[in-house]
Amino acid sequence: MSNVTNVAIFFSGAGTNLQALISAFQSDLFEDAELKLALTNNNQAGGIEVARQAGVDIVIIDDEAKKGKDWNYDQLLLQSLEAHGLSPSNRLILLAGFMRLLSDEFVRLFRWKILNIHPSILPAFRGSRAIESALDYGVKITGCTVHFVDEGIDEGPVILQAAVAVDVRDTPESLLLKIHQEEHEIYVEALKLFLQGKVRLDGRKVEISK
Ligand code: GRF
Repeated sequence: MSNVTNVAIFFSGAGTNLQALISAFQSDLFEDAELKLALTNNNQAGGIEVARQAGVDIVIIDDEAKKGKDWNYDQLLLQSLEAHGLSPSNRLILLAGFMRLLSDEFVRLFRWKILNIHPSILPAFRGSRAIESALDYGVKITGCTVHFVDEGIDEGPVILQAAVAVDVRDTPESLLLKIHQEEHEIYVEALKLFLQGKVRLDGRKVEISK
C-alpha cells in the first residue's frame, strides 16, 4: 500500500495560509504527501484565485447558494474528498481560515487528521474575532496556534504556537499582517513535522520529537 498522505486544504477567505502551504508543497518540502484539492464554502473567497494560479483542484460548496435548502454539507464534503482520493486511511485536512464549523460526526471520522490555524495563543481569544478581541483586551503579546481539531471550537491539542508583540498603535489590519507572517511559518513547520511522524499525541499534550 502507498504511504502517501493525501491532503486537502479548506479555506474561506484571502488564502494567504493556503498560498504558504501550496508554496511549500510546490517546493517539495514534504515527502510522501500530495495536495489533492483546495475546498471553500465561499464562492467569493480570494483563495480561489490563489489555488487556480497554482493549478490546484478547487471545489466550491457555497453556503449562500444553498441557504434554506435541504442539503447535507457533510455528505457533499465527503463526496468531494473521496473523488480526490481522500477516503483511505492516509488522509489529512488542513483548515486555513475555513469559517464553517465541521460537524462532530465529520470530526470523528477524521479523528486527529484535521489541523487548524488560529490567530491567537490559544486558549486565549477563541472564535472568529480573535485579533479584534486581543486588541480590545489590550494584551501586549498575542500570536497564533496550530492545533488538532476536535469537537470543540478552537480547543484541540496544541501543536505549535508563535508569539507576536502588540503595539499600542496596532490596528486589526496591522496586527493581522504580523500574525500572518508567523502563521505561514508555523503552519508549514507543523505540517512538516506531522508528515515526518514527529508529532505524537498523548491526551491533550503534543510531543514533538527531534
Ligand atoms: C488566519 O488568520 C487564520 O488564523 C484564521 O483565518 C485567517 C485566514 O487567513 N483561522 P487567510 O485566508 O489564510 O489569509
